[in-house]
Amino acid sequence: MRSKVTVVGAGNVGATTALRIQSLGYADVVLVDVVEDLPQGKALDMLEAGPVVGSDAVVTGSNGYEESANSDLVVITAGIARRPGMSRDDLLLTNMRITSAVTSEVVKHSPNCIIIAVTNPLDAMVQNVYESSGFPRNRVFGMAGILDTARFRTFIAQELDVSVEDVQAYVLGGHGDDMVPLVRYTTVGGIPISELMAEEKIDQLVQRTRNGGGEIVALLKEGSAYYAPSAAITQMVEAVLLDKKRILPCCVYLEGEFGINGLCVGVPAKLGAGGMEQVVEIRLTEEERASLNQSAASVQELVDVMHQAKAEQSQ
Ligand code: NAI
Ligand code: 2OP
Repeated sequence: MRSKVTVVGAGNVGATTALRIQSLGYADVVLVDVVEDLPQGKALDMLEAGPVVGSDAVVTGSNGYEESANSDLVVITAGIARRPGMSRDDLLLTNMRITSAVTSEVVKHSPNCIIIAVTNPLDAMVQNVYESSGFPRNRVFGMAGILDTARFRTFIAQELDVSVEDVQAYVLGGHGDDMVPLVRYTTVGGIPISELMAEEKIDQLVQRTRNGGGEIVALLKEGSAYYAPSAAITQMVEAVLLDKKRILPCCVYLEGEFGINGLCVGVPAKLGAGGMEQVVEIRLTEEERASLNQSAASVQELVDVMHQAKAEQSQ
């Protein structure tokens, strides 16, 4: 029997993710959105691609959650996206309300699922989904690090004129301007990048990576990136459904690892059938640790605003 994946939000990221998962063929997909007929129309269009791409996976669109019942995995992309001049943080309270409502439906209809949150501001939304769901932390985590790392790898490969497959890198921390590309762990064909590129050039690529989302927003004018994000989400979905035990940068609720407690931040984690099966702690230099702490402090600020808003709401 095929696995069942629900993607909430049938916009750019959600629809592209649904299409990628359906094309792989090993999961049926339910696409949920509040806009009438939109998920149904997109789902039918994807289904009709099945004979051409050779996939028997079924895609269904819905404005409710009944069809999503007992999903193995749920991807949450519902929310508003950035427009030029907006930071990811500008989305905070609107997307908090949306992800809270979505999580409550997901938990009700798929009590045993694994949730991958994608909505921005990513780390705060993962925290919200984690807290709202009541699920253990291995069943709620977020996508951002694979995307940020993919951007860094792309820029390095372009600069050195090498295959992207040979570039290994890690971007940790929050999915914001102070994300932490770990240059010391970045290699090309196993060779440390510092042996291949001047420090000044590495700094430029780090800066371009930090601004990677903004660079796309400025070009698209309306909305934000979705091809690379959907590829990154699909890699996480695949790691879970196929129990691949991949070590990938994911946004995870930390319980003391890296000296951070009670906060969702991007770190290396093992993904398999159990969801987020292990936080992989790596040794950091003092400077790297300070950068990670700085990034975590930015996430904490948003989480504090969110908690405050929730407390006011419940009064
Ligand atoms: P979009 O605007 O194309 O799609 C969002 C969809 O969510 C819309 O179709 C909307 O109708 C739907 N929606 C709104 N409220 C809903 C609700 N209560 N229930 C179900 N559906 C609802 O936006 P896009 O480009 O797909 O981005 C989605 C989110 O993902 C944004 O917050 C964006 O910032 C974030 N994002 C995060 C990335 C990451 O690395 N974590 C990468 C790219 C986008
Ligand atoms: C990005 O980095 C919008 O967060 C999204 O492209």
